[in-house]
Amino acid sequence: MKAALLVESLTGNTWRAAEMIAGNVQQEGWQITGLSPMRRPDHASIQSADVVLIGTWVHGAFIIGQAPWGIGAITALPSLAGKKAVTFCTFALNPGRTLGAMDKAVTGLGADVIGGMALHRSKLAGHTEEFAARLLGALASA
Ligand SMILES: Cc1cc2nc3c(=O)[nH]c(=O)nc-3n(C[C@H](O)[C@H](O)[C@H](O)COP(=O)(O)O)c2cc1C
Repeated sequence: MKAALLVESLTGNTWRAAEMIAGNVQQEGWQITGLSPMRRPDHASIQSADVVLIGTWVHGAFIIGQAPWGIGAITALPSLAGKKAVTFCTFALNPGRTLGAMDKAVTGLGADVIGGMALHRSKLAGHTEEFAARLLGALASA
């Protein structure tokens, strides 16, 4: 399986999460076609991927108004028609409905969104491992 990762990150947590996810799926034999910032996406890596992993961070007032940061950067991505996609976000307290908003935006790009997961910023190792395991499981049974 070939995967491209596209990430929006302010202080590095989401980028680190993406690197950990990439490492986890590579151990299972996946090829990473690229890891690039959402606002400067590596188009070639998207084109050659079977599945596109899209990550950002939760922005809000911590317990209200949570939303994915950079939703405009997601909607500005090239068409993902014919690709499977998975979303993830990192958060500190409560992700609210962030994943739902991300899924909607990515579905709008034409992708088949097969799932998403919110990753706590202080539990990145465990949560990225779980994310990778769920991803492998979802694609094995697809
Ligand atoms: C301005 C601002 C608003 C935030 N709002 C929320 C929030 O509403 N809920 C939450 O759980 N985390 C919130 N966070 C925490 C970030 O989502 C978290 O630290 C995330 O891992 C940052 O990702 P990054 O390091 O990739 O930028 C906020 C962070 C900032 C800087």
